[in-house]
Amino acid sequence: MTSEIRIVAIVGSLRSGSVNRVVMESARSLLPDDVVLEELPLRAVPMYDGDVEAAGDPDEVTALKAAVRDADGLVIFTPEYNISVPAVVKNAIHWLSRPYGSGAITEVAAGVVAASPGGRGGVGVRQHLSDILGIICPGFHPDTLGIGRIHDSLSDDRLTGDAAAELEHWLAGFVDHVRVRRSSAETA
Ligand code: FNR
Repeated sequence: MTSEIRIVAIVGSLRSGSVNRVVMESARSLLPDDVVLEELPLRAVPMYDGDVEAAGDPDEVTALKAAVRDADGLVIFTPEYNISVPAVVKNAIHWLSRPYGSGAITEVAAGVVAASPGGRGGVGVRQHLSDILGIICPGFHPDTLGIGRIHDSLSDDRLTGDAAAELEHWLAGFVDHVRVRRSSAETA
């Protein structure tokens, strides 16, 4: 097995100017050299539909599931919508939770980072994702990161200052969590 750590990211905002995607891009340069981060696009992932699933996963769903299964970690970079989880994230989780009990989400270490223009740092979305992933994802890293007043910490489309330091610190903790899980799996 390669020693490189592979982390995949999903971003809970589809818009081109997403500050959460800026945070995800900034994370690349804050990770250790042996960790790679790849975004998995969600735009073409259809809404979960049991009839579609029964007919066979669409290609975009197959690709999403395979990428998460092949990864050591999954980080969800997300805004908060109406004090909760944006539909694109919830929809991705629905597909990743299938088949029930053995979906890709059961096999990966998962973490949550939420950025918001207001001061609350997405406390609602982080709580709700913690509630969900705490049950369906045995590898969930319960220490979520919220970045409030995000626009005060952006410069040239990069996260800066204390927020960048907090993200770097959070990523180090998440990567440690991933490494511990991977070494336990290798010795099992
Ligand atoms: C929001 N926004 C928002 N912000 C927040 O802190 N708590 C919330 O409950 C909500 N609710 C909400 C609902 C909807 C439908 C939208 C479109 C927006 C504001 C949101 O944080 C802001 O638009 C972010 O910039 C969205 O993240 P991206 O797209 O910049 O990554």
